[in-house]
Amino acid sequence: MAETQQLAKETSENNTVTLIDNATGKQVTMPVLDGTEGPRVIDIRKLYQETGMFTFDPGFTSTGSCESGLTFIDGDVGTLMHCGYSIDELAEKSDFLEVCYLLLNGELPNKAQMEEFEYAITRHSMIHEQLHSFYHGFRRDAHPMAIMVGVVGALSAFYHDSTDIRDEHQRMIASRRLIAKMPTIAAWAYKYSIGQPMIYPRNDLNYAENFLHMIQATPCENYEVNPILARAMDRIFILHADHEQNASTSTVRLAGSSQANPFACIAAGIACLWGPAHGGANEAVLKMLDEIGSKDRVGSYIKRAKDKDDPFRLMGFGHRVYKNYDPRAKVMRETCHEVLDFLGIKDEPYLDLAMDLERIATEDEYFVEKKLYPNVDFYSGIILRAMGFPTTMFTVIFALARTVGWIAQWKEMIEDPVQKIGRPRQLYNGYSHRPYVPLDQRG
Ligand code: ACO
Repeated sequence: MAETQQLAKETSENNTVTLIDNATGKQVTMPVLDGTEGPRVIDIRKLYQETGMFTFDPGFTSTGSCESGLTFIDGDVGTLMHCGYSIDELAEKSDFLEVCYLLLNGELPNKAQMEEFEYAITRHSMIHEQLHSFYHGFRRDAHPMAIMVGVVGALSAFYHDSTDIRDEHQRMIASRRLIAKMPTIAAWAYKYSIGQPMIYPRNDLNYAENFLHMIQATPCENYEVNPILARAMDRIFILHADHEQNASTSTVRLAGSSQANPFACIAAGIACLWGPAHGGANEAVLKMLDEIGSKDRVGSYIKRAKDKDDPFRLMGFGHRVYKNYDPRAKVMRETCHEVLDFLGIKDEPYLDLAMDLERIATEDEYFVEKKLYPNVDFYSGIILRAMGFPTTMFTVIFALARTVGWIAQWKEMIEDPVQKIGRPRQLYNGYSHRPYVPLDQRG
């Protein structure tokens, strides 16, 4: 067994940190890097080379995996910015496609750039007709997220001319194709699950309107997209567009670091997003509210959430980075009220229950001490339900909106000369070498 070694840390006056191995007295000095915002980071790239030791950080709670200029979160204050623009301002003044342009290009577009981008996204919204038959290979009761993983992964079998990741033009086409086709793929997953004909995209509608059209319309009658609901949909897309190095984005980056094609990488991101600890939480919130059922049962669920021996957690509460109110949840709560008012829904039992839960949880010592606040998923499910989406579509909508973040992060990684294939190491705690015992000699 290797001798236990303790590392002590001393920060010197300049931009370095010195680690001292207390077992040997050996010192190693490493640079400290400053970003434009956020905590400083210790550059440990030479740590193994110089000390023969790795760092141990399950869940990457103290690890920065890349440089990025796309999104900044101040989790203590509860702020979120894309390329320097705050999420509240983008949600109020921008629209989703403009945010897509911003994330892909780092700057807001001028008028001509915006028109070109909108035109291109609109003209890429159809999917290869053969993909239509591909859907029929799934069971009707398949979860739409399962269909999303399959169909998005299959795009690489249909669009060979945009899978060369070394070609800047192909990267751009793949990015636009993914953003453009995702609403069609998502809406068709829904239509397939309810046994209705798939509705083709319409070029005269904007991004959010077109999605609602493909969800709600049938070939039998005209469907008028309501502009207020389309605006709410667009805002939901904006609020989910990107969120720094979360689990699914890190999955996309890791998959892409092996130079896998972008469609395969985004399919990997969708798979990761599906989990209830991540994007699947919006579906889980509604299931939880359903299970709680009435206000008089809120207390017992809060008690369960606090019980260490009970695996139950308050879904839609807590975040790895936000130790304050998630700024997206604030906008989402306002949007929720707007949508319910517009739809004339006076008594939405889930909203009443959610607000009660939020009030009790934010006053409770356990949640206050652990800084557990409502996250983006807490209210989104209530809005989506009021708009007529089944719970199984909630995470699909998240995936649709997050596609731009994934692809922008993937592109940034491919274009970053410093990036290498992602390959973490481990603290091995299995057997040391032992001789093989033949089967007839084992006890
Ligand atoms: N309910 C009750 N207790 C909680 C909750 C919760 N929702 N979230 C965290 N805690 C507790 C943990 O039990 C832990 O307690 P301990 O210190 O006594 O062990 C402490 O708070 C810290 O929690 P961790 O799980 O260590 O925090 P982590 O950063 O790993 O997890 C996560 C963050 C996964 C989001 C967690 O808060 C959670 O499971 N929330 C519910 C699911 C959810 O809403 N996910 C959506 C996140 S937002 C998104 O992905 C879009």
